[in-house]
Amino acid sequence: METILSMKNIYKEFGKTTALKDVSFDVQPGEIFGFLGPSGAGKTTTVKLFTAQLLQSSGELTIMGKNVMKHRNEVFNHIGVLTDTSGLYERLSVLDNLMLFAKFKNVPEQQVKQILGQVGLDDQHKKEAGKLSRGMKQRVMLVRALLHQPKILFLDEPTASLDPGTTLEIHKLLRALNANGTTIFLTTHNMQEADKLCDRVAFLSSGEIVELGPPEFLKRKYASDQIELVLNDGTKQYVHKDAEGGRLIKELLEKNSLSTLHSLEPSLEKIFLKITGKELS
Ligand SMILES: Nc1ncnc2c1ncn2[C@@H]1O[C@H](COP(=O)(O)OP(=O)(O)OP(=O)(O)O)[C@@H](O)[C@H]1O
Ligand SMILES: [Mg+2]
Repeated sequence: METILSMKNIYKEFGKTTALKDVSFDVQPGEIFGFLGPSGAGKTTTVKLFTAQLLQSSGELTIMGKNVMKHRNEVFNHIGVLTDTSGLYERLSVLDNLMLFAKFKNVPEQQVKQILGQVGLDDQHKKEAGKLSRGMKQRVMLVRALLHQPKILFLDEPTASLDPGTTLEIHKLLRALNANGTTIFLTTHNMQEADKLCDRVAFLSSGEIVELGPPEFLKRKYASDQIELVLNDGTKQYVHKDAEGGRLIKELLEKNSLSTLHSLEPSLEKIFLKITGKELS
């Protein structure tokens, strides 16, 4: 399949700060791709480069095979962007806020209302945007990003500081969009979010990709060499994956006292810490 997003040897400098250092990766159509890293890692910079809000210092950046800056107008038809909640007119109603964009993109009011319904805001369209909760604002911004049914969605920390219920709602919506073929590029500090949602994740540390792959692959790659044994009486024992561990497992099996065993998989959080020495948040 044709690559839908691609960065090749991207550098982005802000004066003396190098925000991105030789970043290269591809995203395939239909993927949910997660960009993970602590504050200042370069996540927002990456989203801004893809959405032509910034120009790279060097390297090549394409969306659907097209140079983003050169083919800006064409590329904009295919992408939706959610960055932060600052882009709403506080004094206008939810619907009026969205209609400003909808008119510009030739989207009928009916469709706007339908998408509002999908994010659970059908009874809120008359409310002034300034009077919405943060979670509601975030959902309105998501609707705005979705109005023109983009093939690719860029979400910069879509659930940061949302309550768990709203976060789950947004995850559900993203899965549904993805099931309908939308490619999603999202940034997050939240490793559980990444683990649950993403087909592949890239770990970004100080502007460099230090690891990339499907969450299950990374968890296996960095699995400890320990196996957890749960005995029939509920007690747990830990053995190494070696001959000694094997002997103990055999013994327990023969005594019929082993209930379950599984290798210990580290969380993405722990893997990140192991690779970079840095906490994610
Ligand atoms: N417009 C700018 N001018 C100067 N420096 C900038 C600018 N934008 C970003 N930077 C710097 O680039 C680096 C990466 O910033 P970026 O916003 O991409 O990080 P981030 O991963 O999105 O962090 P956060 O999780 O806090 O949102 C930081 O050192 C930041 O200070
Ligand atoms: Mg950011």
